[in-house]
Parts: sequence; structure tokens; C-alpha cells
Amino acid sequence: AVANIGVVGLAVMGSNLARNLASREGNRVAVYNRTFARTALLLEEHPEAKFVGSESIDDFVASLTTPRTALIMVQAGAGTDAVINELAARFEPGDIIVDGGNALFTDTIRREKALSANGIHFVGAGISGGEEGALKGPSIMPGGSVESYKTLGPILASIAAIAEGEPCVTHVGTDGAGHFVKMIHNGIEYADMQLIAEAYDILRQAGRFSPAEIADIFTQWNTGELESYLIEITAEILKQVDAKTGKPLVDVILDEAGSKGTGVWTVQTALDLGVPVSGIAEAVFARSLSSQTAQRAGSHTLPADATLWNITDKEAFVEDVRRALYASKIVAYAQGFDAIRAGAKQYNWTIDLGAVSKIWRGGCIIRAQFLNRIADAYATDANLLSLLHDTYFTEAVSRSLASWRTVVAHSALAGIPVPAFGSSLSYYDGLRAPRLPAAVVQGQRDFFGAHTYKRSDMPGIFHTLWSGDRTEIDAVPSTH
Ligand code: 6PG
Repeated sequence: AVANIGVVGLAVMGSNLARNLASREGNRVAVYNRTFARTALLLEEHPEAKFVGSESIDDFVASLTTPRTALIMVQAGAGTDAVINELAARFEPGDIIVDGGNALFTDTIRREKALSANGIHFVGAGISGGEEGALKGPSIMPGGSVESYKTLGPILASIAAIAEGEPCVTHVGTDGAGHFVKMIHNGIEYADMQLIAEAYDILRQAGRFSPAEIADIFTQWNTGELESYLIEITAEILKQVDAKTGKPLVDVILDEAGSKGTGVWTVQTALDLGVPVSGIAEAVFARSLSSQTAQRAGSHTLPADATLWNITDKEAFVEDVRRALYASKIVAYAQGFDAIRAGAKQYNWTIDLGAVSKIWRGGCIIRAQFLNRIADAYATDANLLSLLHDTYFTEAVSRSLASWRTVVAHSALAGIPVPAFGSSLSYYDGLRAPRLPAAVVQGQRDFFGAHTYKRSDMPGIFHTLWSGDRTEIDAVPSTH
């Protein structure tokens, strides 16, 4: 046994992580793949990594020093269970199995429970940053036991991205906490992407800017408070000219967005937790709508009755869109962090939200300067109920409000769909409103189903005899 860490599953993410691990002082990396050809290829292409390659799972396990540590990088789902079982059958108490894929956090909770019963540490670790991140430094969100992190922490810190001198990895919380936080990361990623896409659409349709001009605008935005990886790559995409047609590439890419499921999980989970992640949900639905080709087919028959957005000052218009994007982005992150807080409470995790914002500053898809502001907010108040309550964010939104309303209202008049911009503004106005029409909903529920209501002026539970003399009675809370 010579290897302090092993990697199972050598598709691009697995092999890049293995190479990243091998490039760090003190690591010797064992590799295993179900089909040996892929292992052989990796060994041949990267002799410098001095990988310990095995043809059988038995040899792979034998090549690991104790406590054995293996990182699984296979497609989430049934494949993961199969690999876990193979390893678990050969591992001993104290050994560590890490699942670095995008597993559903409830699967991770289940797997951790089963393996810890046998003394084996199971760590669900979210890993973000795509292929390049895996190779050069991802953001890593491990869950699992505190004890396993003593062995695993230094190894993960050695390969993680560095932001402001700190490695982008932290022990997020026990069992499924890491995968939960990675899931929310992806939900925010969806919202961030959709918001940038809506900003593009407004600039294109209302502002009549070309993709190349919008690329320049985004490049400019990337020097300010919107600085982020996603803005940067969007500028690159918009600049790209299609070699086949000479058109902007964005004009020839089919406008049907795909997904692998983590955004849907985020929304499903938030629905269960009762957390309004409306911006993230709209981003998921926007992808669904784009892919409803049958329903979109007759689009030309749907009347628009739109009015022209008369833009006289283009510079002011661009600034309005930028501010609307920034305010909506703040809402997306506020909703995401709210979901993490609620998840931590539900699943008994102690999650340091400030630490989460810090490990997202580098390596991951949503990496941005902006995460420093979130880290500051939690440093000021670790129990902050909403990011929107933090002074910096309250002021940032306040500076953007007039622009935000202008952009959403004009988009509606002009017939430009802005589901994420619009729902983010409504969320903000909902949080802000001293009274909500929820009182009407409570009245309706009491009317048709005697579901009862509370009063704002006195304690107790009440019901109005709607079908009788309409007097109000004290209601005994129903047990069914
Ligand atoms: C990351 C990404 C990654 C995710 C892709 C694809 O953090 O590196 O979140 O994990 O799988 O972005 O997601 P969709 O196919 O669902 O868009």
C-alpha cells in the first residue's frame, strides 16, 4: 500500500481531480475505473502523475494506505451505490469513502447512515468548477463526520482553489450538508445564469445592441460590482462568431435550455422547507418553457399588443439594466442562503453561512467578488435572517430600485419576458410590504373550509360562521 488517496471513476472530472491531487506535494494517488482501458490511457498520458493504477477493485483497495481514503467520481444515482457497495465490502472501520458527484443530499444522508453503522466514514462532497476547476482548483463542499475531515481536510485543501489566500473548502456540516449546499449553489447558478440571459435579452431587444456590443457592455460590467465568472464567460460567448455562417454563435444555438436536475432539486427541496426561492424557481421554469417546443410552435399566433420601449438615452438605459441585474442577483443569493439556513435547521446541521460564502469566492461556477460582501454581512451578524437586511445590501438595492422597477415595467410593456427579474422584484416588495393580501387568502380558506384564522389584534384562533349568522367564534384548533 503506497497511495494516501484513491480516485474511482476516471471520466473527465475524476481524471482531472486525480491529476490535481497527484500534482500536490505529499500525495500518491491510486486510480481505478470499471473499464481498465480508461485507466491505462490515463497512466499512459500522465506518467508525471506517478499514478498507482489497478485493474481490479481488490488491487485498488490494497494499494491504499490506512485509513483508506477513496474519492468516487461517477454518475450520480444507481452507479454510485454500486461503487460504494464494492468499496464498503472491502473497507475497514475508520476508512473514508467520499462521493464527489452531484448526489441528492437525501441519498447522501441515507448512505452515510448505512456506512457509519459499519464504522466507515461516508462523506458527500460537492465539487464545483467544471473540468478546469477539477484540474486547477475547485470549490469543495464536504459533509460527513468531523473526524473524517481531520484526514480529508488537508488533502482537499491542497487541491482547492485559493481565494484571498484561503483554500475554498470547509467542513460544511455532517452527513448530507455538503451535498445540500452544493445543490443550493447550483440553484443560485441557475438564477444567476437566467438573470444574465434576461439582461442580454433586454439589451438586445429593447436596446437594439448587437451580441458583440453586449459582450463589450458585460466586459465593462465585469470591472464593477457585478464582477463574476458567469458575466465574464457570457461576454466570451457573445463575442463568438459562428465559423459556418458568419453569424454570432448565440444566434445559431438552439434556444432550448437543458438541465441535469440539481436546479429542480433545489426548488423541490425549498418547496418542502417552505422557503420562497422564487428567482431560482423561475430560472428552472424558464428552462422548461424554452424546451416546450410543441407549445412554443404556434408562438406567432399569440398576440403581443406590446408597446415600443422608447429609449432616448442609451447609456442611462444600460445603467438601468445593470442595476436591475445587480438587485435581482442580490435577491437570488438572499433566497439561496435562506434555503441553506432552513435546511440546516430541518436536518440538524450547524452550517456557517459566512464560511460557505467564502468557499464560493473561488473555484466554483458562481465565483464572484460579490461573495466578499456576503461574507462581510455574516461576519457582522452570523444570525442574519435575510441578506437583504444587511446594511450594504439594503443600500445596494435602494440605489437600484428605481432602475429595477423601470426595467421590469418597461419589459412588461414591451413584451420581453423577464421571469427572474420580475419575480425577484416581487419577492423584494413582498418582504417589504407591511401588510400582505395573505389575509384575503386566510379569509377564503376559512370561508370554504373552516380552516380558521388568527387575528392581528388579539391571541387565539377564530372562525366566522360564514354560512350561518356570520358571527365570529373561538375555534378549537382542529386535529385533522
Ligand atoms: C458546477 C456545476 C456542475 C453542474 C453543471 C450542469 O458547480 O461545477 O454546477 O456541477 O453539473 O453546471 O448543470 P445543468 O446541466 O443542470 O445545467
